[in-house]
Amino acid sequence: MIEKLKKAAEYIQSVKEVVPKVGMVLGSGLGIYVDKIEDKTYIPYSDIPFFHGTAVEGHEGRLILGKVDGVDVAVLQGRIHAYEGHDMEDIVFATRVLATLGIETLILTNAAGGINEDFTPGDLVLIKDHINLMGKNPLVGPNYAELGPRFPDMTYAYNLELRKVLLESAKEINMDLKQGIYCGLLGPTYETPAEIHMLRVIGADMVGMSTVPEAIAANHLGIKVAGISCITNMAAGITKNKLNHDEVKEQALLVMEGFAELLSKSIKRIGALSK
Ligand code: HPA
Repeated sequence: MIEKLKKAAEYIQSVKEVVPKVGMVLGSGLGIYVDKIEDKTYIPYSDIPFFHGTAVEGHEGRLILGKVDGVDVAVLQGRIHAYEGHDMEDIVFATRVLATLGIETLILTNAAGGINEDFTPGDLVLIKDHINLMGKNPLVGPNYAELGPRFPDMTYAYNLELRKVLLESAKEINMDLKQGIYCGLLGPTYETPAEIHMLRVIGADMVGMSTVPEAIAANHLGIKVAGISCITNMAAGITKNKLNHDEVKEQALLVMEGFAELLSKSIKRIGALSK
């Protein structure tokens, strides 16, 4: 594992020698954020040793090295999901490679269904905490002590300082950035109304099928994590509407501008936070 990480990182460094400060994972529909990145180098996942590829909206998944507001970033456009049948260890491989490259902060984004009725489709919600109901954990198996401890603490899984920066930036751009607890499920079905009722009772504000594995792996590595959900739809049974993936993608596209503005406003301060 450690050798594989080194080989992947070495390949990336051979394409562009850079130590990115901030890593980002762009969720469904948020991929066009890459337009905001300057001085870009694209590396298709299929070129990187041991990387697991994914098709994103007709394009292959790729790593983008570049700059946002002068900060070196490494952006993953497209992620693999547990519902596709991938092992958890493969799902978090990319997170671990970014850590090997040197990122100190990881910003995870996703599309999510809103459970909290204060949310409406189109809202951006800062993740305060998560509930792992995927039935899996990426750290199951032998612990790689080089990466982190056997029993990582998850009390501040979503870093408080980062949340403060993002909330302050949102205020400056008059964005009503909400906060909530993200519940990660395996999928690929959307939930039943009965399941959503259960999730609401246990304290979830939104639901999705990603983010949790990467957040766990990053915490294991001692990397600061921020998470932002784009509420693409109200979860099953909250309204009478049925759910469909096209709607999810369309809604994510609509929030793109706000999302880009929020990140642009924050990235300098995020890059300057101490390790
Ligand atoms: N449920 C699970 N995942 C999702 C949803 C949802 O309602 N919307 C976007 N991703």
